[in-house]
Amino acid sequence: MQNFTFHNPTRIIFGEGQIAALDVHIPRNARVLITFGGGSIKSNGVLAQVQTALGERAWYVFGGIEPNPTYETLMQAVQLAHEKGIDFLLAVGGGSVIDGTKFIAAALKFDGEPWDILAKQADVRDAMPFGSVLTLPATGSEMNNGGVISHRAKGDKLPFRSDATYPLFSVLDPTTTYSLPPRQIANGVVDAFVHIVEQYLTYPVDAKVQDRFAEGLLITLTEVGPQALAEPHNYAVRANLMWTATLALNGLIGTGVPQDWATHMLGHEITALHGLDHAQTLAIVLPAMLNVRRDPKRAKLLQYAERVWNLTEGSEDERISAAITATRTFFERMSIGTRLSDYQIGGQSISTLISKLEEHGMTALGEHGDVTLEVSRQVYQFAA
Ligand code: NZQ
Ligand code: ZN
Repeated sequence: MQNFTFHNPTRIIFGEGQIAALDVHIPRNARVLITFGGGSIKSNGVLAQVQTALGERAWYVFGGIEPNPTYETLMQAVQLAHEKGIDFLLAVGGGSVIDGTKFIAAALKFDGEPWDILAKQADVRDAMPFGSVLTLPATGSEMNNGGVISHRAKGDKLPFRSDATYPLFSVLDPTTTYSLPPRQIANGVVDAFVHIVEQYLTYPVDAKVQDRFAEGLLITLTEVGPQALAEPHNYAVRANLMWTATLALNGLIGTGVPQDWATHMLGHEITALHGLDHAQTLAIVLPAMLNVRRDPKRAKLLQYAERVWNLTEGSEDERISAAITATRTFFERMSIGTRLSDYQIGGQSISTLISKLEEHGMTALGEHGDVTLEVSRQVYQFAA
């Protein structure tokens, strides 16, 4: 196991009815900006619950944070927060709203041009305090310090992270997910699955607990993913899905192990160029990535085949191929296409995707830094 420090300061408030607990966790005299997306929280009653919980506090709203949140929109929220003298942010929504709110929180305390936080990876030393009410189990943003922000004008989608951008708390009420359309449930399952794979499927470092936690989370997703589609109001299923997605990317399973993240970086370029949902891009890239990198990942692929998919028969290469096929089949069972062509994206896009990776310095990705632009090209080609 590699050396590590682990500190996750986010308080999780889990279960049905817990939105009322906002009253306990937000200072009484706070001036709150509620940030949200396109309006799902209005139609499913979540916003009303939040407003009731805030009681007499001064609160304002900023809506319109889009999926794959943009710098352009978020800077309008920064301006509103300045105008209203806001001192606490409350993100109510999915990963896009929470990521966007992390950026707003950082930008409010940032000296200089906030886009540098993404483009130059400028240090974020301070951020406005914020909490979240999660409505979409997927990204883990509710319990981590990262965010991914797009710049519409530049066609960029770039990640940032900072110790200052952990939510103070996140409320996870599984009943808020009942209104999710099937496509977003499927996206959430696939995103969480790939988060686990990015931290698990590298090379062995004898990290027994991290491996077994990761395998337990993956197996849980293979169980509850299809159930969540089939039974949208099954509380136990939604509760298990929600907690699994949080644990998939709250730092715990990534302690002391090598991490990959090449699939995510190649996926971000597809979203930036073609506007696909984040999880759709991962479903396209991951099977191709595992296939192209089957040699450096051989030991872990065999472990994944045996422990997650019960594949023990045949040669090593047959078991690895079967595990990659099982992964693809699982994504397709969740109704997510796993090829660029499923989204009408032709092979002629690949050279643009590669130039964008180059422009963003993504030239030595993966746990060994050996995912060069040439390897990325093979992955995109294999995914065509
Ligand atoms: O905007 P509204 O109207 O709320 O509708 C949203 C949106 O259209 C809808 N939705 C959310 N909760 C709902 C609901 N509809 C009905 N009922 C509910 N309860 O779902 C749609 C998608 O929402 P979004 O927040 O975009 O989805 P997700 O949570 O998958 O977030 C994706 C974003 O997170 C980033 C992705 O790149 C992408 O930008 N990621 C963030 C990470 C992190 N912070 O650690 C890691 C991930 O790898 C990922 O990159
Ligand atoms: Zn992701």
